[in-house]
Amino acid sequence: MSSRDIYHEMIIDYSRNPVNFGKMDNPDATHHDANPLCGDSVDIDLKIDDSKISDIKFHGKGCAICMACSSVLTEITKGKSLDEARDISKHDLLGELGLEHLQAVRIKCALLPLKTLKFALYTYLAKHNHDSVESLKEEAAGLY
Ligand code: FES
Repeated sequence: MSSRDIYHEMIIDYSRNPVNFGKMDNPDATHHDANPLCGDSVDIDLKIDDSKISDIKFHGKGCAICMACSSVLTEITKGKSLDEARDISKHDLLGELGLEHLQAVRIKCALLPLKTLKFALYTYLAKHNHDSVESLKEEAAGLY
């Protein structure tokens, strides 16, 4: 089986059996975002203890790529510090599922959960005065 086939199977498997799927009671940070091209959406909820992401959940609806990336993103984010989570790049996420060479139209599917996570973090950080809103906006602008 080629690595391409393995990644394809992983995407199908994650989309059928999503990991960390569901809503969280009383999250410390949350964000909802949608893909403007299709209207699909993702919500991400975070529990934050001692500047670490102790729990993360997502819900929403999207294509197989979006659901698989949401699952993988929650797996790689859980347990990270806020700074480490801020440093998760699109290359980190796309590399987990062999999606580095996606067509531009599918990139938005893959990166919707990352964008949602980053905005949940930025909102939390701005609210708790960890960073200025301006520096967070600049960081957000560099996401894609
Ligand atoms: Fe809607 Fe991919 S087609 S997120």
